[in-house]
Amino acid sequence: MNLNKNYFELKESYLFSTIAKKVNEFTLKNPDKKIIRLGIGDVTLPLCKAVIDAMHKAVDEMSVQTTFRGYGPEQGYEFLKHAVKNYYAEKSVALEDDEIFISDGAKSDLGNILDLFDKNNTVLVPDPVYPVYVDTNVMDGRKIVYINANEENNFLPLPDNSINADIIYICSPNNPTGAVYAKEGLKSWVDYALRNNAIILFDAAYEAFITAEELPRSIYQIDGAKNCAIEFCSFSKTAGFTGTRCGYTVVPKNLGKLNKMWLRRQTTKFNGVPYIVQRGAEAVFSKEGRKEIQENLSYYRENAKIIASTLNECGIKFFGGEFSPYIWLKCPNCMSSWEFFDYLLSNIQVVGTPGEGFGKNGEGFFRLTSFGSKENTQEAMRRLKNLISGS
Ligand code: MLT
Repeated sequence: MNLNKNYFELKESYLFSTIAKKVNEFTLKNPDKKIIRLGIGDVTLPLCKAVIDAMHKAVDEMSVQTTFRGYGPEQGYEFLKHAVKNYYAEKSVALEDDEIFISDGAKSDLGNILDLFDKNNTVLVPDPVYPVYVDTNVMDGRKIVYINANEENNFLPLPDNSINADIIYICSPNNPTGAVYAKEGLKSWVDYALRNNAIILFDAAYEAFITAEELPRSIYQIDGAKNCAIEFCSFSKTAGFTGTRCGYTVVPKNLGKLNKMWLRRQTTKFNGVPYIVQRGAEAVFSKEGRKEIQENLSYYRENAKIIASTLNECGIKFFGGEFSPYIWLKCPNCMSSWEFFDYLLSNIQVVGTPGEGFGKNGEGFFRLTSFGSKENTQEAMRRLKNLISGS
């Protein structure tokens, strides 16, 4: 038996596990201190009523022989694929049923999709980046090249024609920086991918946070993208499904063999998302569901505003927050990301995510999320303001 030695190239633990461990250690030593977690992008509002009602109904169906369901289609029930298809149609994107694959979330699919690509491909990732893109390729032993996302390019790098890449990751609205590509920026990436016969893996998990009509919410809103991009999306951040688990991946048939290969992969290695969960996800697109979800998204947007206005008052520079649940701030007093993490944890018990955990360009930056409760967000910002103003 030989181990996959590529695993030895990984950092010892996943970023969010390292943070959780540090916070647990602090809690053990300081049991009376109230920690406020604005670190991992996990939602706090409960599932909306429309989703819960649909799931209750589905549970009842499972208790009756005539409506009971066993194994479902691995790539998702038609009712949910149709709801997704209609959602894309509203964005002027026409999809066919068999281009949509329902899954248990974007993170799994972003990792699993790599089954379809040779180990000898070169992967291009922006730095800083969601660690899953890097780690899953390290596990496979693929060569990774980085493109700098930094203050100079507003964390929205454009293609560099001197780099030859086969697989390109783009996340917009971006995790961790909150930056959002305009159509022109995405068009440059689509053109680059088409020129290089490369594939774009487009992570649209945060698309629901975009409110500006002119900003693209799907890469397929860009001409040519169906010939070079796979899109990943999730109900996690849109509808609070982080614990419920449901997402979808679009593999256009224009991509040739990839569509059939993904079907083959999923039917072999995946048994589909539970019927009850898919009924809940379907309700996200219903009239009531949409209204309730917008209320939840507005709640998180308000939190982002509370964070942004406090940072402005404190004179701390930041990016993101407008069309994203993430606020990407520059650590004050030239502190390193992990220094600032320890500084906040030990002094005000506020947990964020050190930018360095997302790559070298994240050093000196820090990510806060707007997914906390309003009360906790206000309290965290009150503590931050007092700390920074020295009172
Ligand atoms: C994050 O905090 O970056 C996200 O919650 C991670 C994820 O979606 O897996």
